[in-house]
Amino acid sequence: MTDRPLALVTGSSRGIGAAVARGLADTHRVLLGGRDATALSALAAELPDAQPWPVDLSDEAAVADAAARIDNLDVLVHSAGVARLGDVADSPAESWRANFEVNVVAVAELTRLLLPALRRAHGHVVVINSGQGLSAREGWGPYAASKFGVRAFADVLRAEEEPHGLRVTSVYPGRTDTEMQQAVVAGEGGEYRPEKFLRPESVADAVSAAVLAGPDAHLTDITVRPRPHR
Ligand SMILES: NC(=O)c1ccc[n+]([C@@H]2O[C@H](COP(=O)([O-])OP(=O)(O)OC[C@H]3O[C@@H](n4cnc5c(N)ncnc54)[C@H](OP(=O)(O)O)[C@@H]3O)[C@@H](O)[C@H]2O)c1
Repeated sequence: MTDRPLALVTGSSRGIGAAVARGLADTHRVLLGGRDATALSALAAELPDAQPWPVDLSDEAAVADAAARIDNLDVLVHSAGVARLGDVADSPAESWRANFEVNVVAVAELTRLLLPALRRAHGHVVVINSGQGLSAREGWGPYAASKFGVRAFADVLRAEEEPHGLRVTSVYPGRTDTEMQQAVVAGEGGEYRPEKFLRPESVADAVSAAVLAGPDAHLTDITVRPRPHR
C-alpha cells in the first residue's frame, strides 16, 4: 500500500481530526498528528496504513524536526485547534495569544515547512476553520479573530501556491460534537445535547469531498452547518 498518497492530519488524537484521519485512511497513508501518543497509537492500530506523528505544534524546534522527515506530501489537514472564549472585557492578552498560537501561527509555520514537500506532490492543504471565521459573535472574540486570521492565511496561500499546483480548502463547520464543544457548552452553562450538533464524520466527509475531487476541480470554501430538524 506504499504507493498510496500520503496525508498528514493534525489534531487527529480526537474530535474532527480523528474523523478526518479515519475518512482519508480508505485512500491514503495517514500520519496522525497530536500530542497524546497513546490515543494516536490506538487510532493507528485501527487503520490500514497509519502511524502516529506526535508533535506539540507550539514547539517550533520539534515541528521543524518532524517536518524535515517528510519529503513528499499529498494532503495536509490542519485540524488541531484551541478555543479560548470570552468577552473582550474579560479576555487578557494571554487568551488572544493562546488562540493565535495554535489556530494561526502553528498552521502557517507547519505549512511553510512542508511547502517543498507539498509542491513536489502538487498537494492539497485543508484548514478546518469555523463558522466563527465567517461571522463573529459576542463572547467569541479571541477565537473568532484567530479563525478570521487563518481564513486570510488560506486565501493568501491559495493565491500564491495555485500556480505551483497546490489546492487550498477552508472548511467552516458549525458546532460539532467533540470535547471542544463540550467545553464550550460547559462555559455557556447550558445542557450538552449532542444531537443538536454536527457529527465529526460529517465534517470529515466535507474534507474527503475536497480531497477526492477530480484534478480539474478546486473546492475552495465549504460551509457545513448542523440541521436543526432531521
Ligand atoms: N467542535 C466544534 O464545534 C468546532 C466547530 C467549528 C470548528 N472547529 C474546529 O475544528 C478543529 C478541531 O476541533 P475539535 O472540536 O476536534 O477539537 P478537540 O476535540 O478539542 O481536539 C483538538 C485537537 O487539537 C490538538 N491540539 C491542540 N493543541 C495542540 C498543540 N499545541 N499541538 C498539537 N496538537 C494540538 C489536540 O491534540 P491533543 O490530544 O494533543 O490535545 C486534539 O487532537 C479546531 O480547529 C476547531 O477550532 C470545531
